[in-house]
Amino acid sequence: MKHYQLKRVFSKEELQTLNKALGEKISKDYRSILEPDEAILAVVTLKGAMIFAADLIREIDVPLQIDFIRVASYGATKASSGNVVLKKDLEHQAKGRHVLVLDEIVDSGYTLNFLMEHFKKHEPKSLKVCTLLDKESRREVSVKVDYIGKKVDDLFLVGYGLDFDERYRNLPEIFELKN
Ligand code: IMP
Ligand code: MG
Repeated sequence: MKHYQLKRVFSKEELQTLNKALGEKISKDYRSILEPDEAILAVVTLKGAMIFAADLIREIDVPLQIDFIRVASYGATKASSGNVVLKKDLEHQAKGRHVLVLDEIVDSGYTLNFLMEHFKKHEPKSLKVCTLLDKESRREVSVKVDYIGKKVDDLFLVGYGLDFDERYRNLPEIFELKN
């Protein structure tokens, strides 16, 4: 197996600060729109967003339910094919719900664009997106992202849920993968 070098980009403390800020903003915004009997339907995009989502939802202090969706477009490459396929759909009904999609990184935008079209068909009451990281300079399709933890340069990142060929997701911090 090829050996790559890792250079740390976000420490545990930095990730915690980003999550706290996102959680505070999300809580404030939804507090004013949720009816007494409503809860956010937080949709975690597997597998990459699982660790971010686990930390973020504990910083959100309004009613919330969790569901999972899985799409795939990457294999053992560093670029999206644009050919996004749904691998696992929601278990909850999105109709009439306040859907908040949680993604760990937006790159070309193909994945999020696919998810937005998918959710719109289900007529949610509201539909928003939160990403921990945004590689804005790599965008190929325009997508609206409501909450962004941090904009990042065009680096290939691993750890904290982010993988390269399914490896490195378990690293507790985020690193640049260098050749
Ligand atoms: P997009 O469809 O190109 O926007 O890609 C979105 C998905 O690609 C993300 O949810 C990640 O799963 C993956 N991805 C994009 N950039 C990186 C990266 O730097 N490291 C690891 N995975 C990435
Ligand atoms: Mg993802």
